[in-house]
Amino acid sequence: VAEAKKAAAAASSLDQVRAAMQAFAHCDLKRGARHLVFADGTAGAPVMIVGEAPGREEDRVGKPFVGRAGQLLDRMLAAIDLDRAQNVYITNVLPWRPPQNRDPRPDEIAMMQPFLERHVALSKPKVLVVMGNISAQAVLNKRGITRLRGQWDQALNLPVLPMLHPAYLLRQPHAKRQAWADLLELRAFLEGT
Ligand code: URA
Repeated sequence: VAEAKKAAAAASSLDQVRAAMQAFAHCDLKRGARHLVFADGTAGAPVMIVGEAPGREEDRVGKPFVGRAGQLLDRMLAAIDLDRAQNVYITNVLPWRPPQNRDPRPDEIAMMQPFLERHVALSKPKVLVVMGNISAQAVLNKRGITRLRGQWDQALNLPVLPMLHPAYLLRQPHAKRQAWADLLELRAFLEGT
């Protein structure tokens, strides 16, 4: 993790963060992945969304949230008039797909955390949306997204809104009601800024 901290701290632009991640050899996930998945949307947008890790489609294309969960995310954002390409910036805790989409391990999360923090600092969003357990764990150091969701928190000098992950919503459609409440929270925050 010391190497990750050093490499992340040395990056002074988003391109440099991406390059530093690309060159970083101390995360085993890199070996099994096809592409580094860095970010999508507009850097500098007020909303920065942090997901978990690339899945199969994301690994193939090299962009976050382009598979089924990503399509649901796009619809969720559109429901509060946010355009994925213009109004948000999207990244993940891990830039490489874990084998067979297994959960990332705590040591893998910890290893890549300095890059995530530098990524956030250089993107200067007004609010962070953390989607799912892994993201809440990495950003807030808290567990239990079903309890955390919809409750404003604070991390990295930013307001943080934890939400249910769209992949979870695909499996548990009844939870969409809660996701809608959280989206309205986000919209109210943006209207107030
Ligand atoms: N799920 C995530 O958390 N991130 C992606 O990029 C795709 C699916």
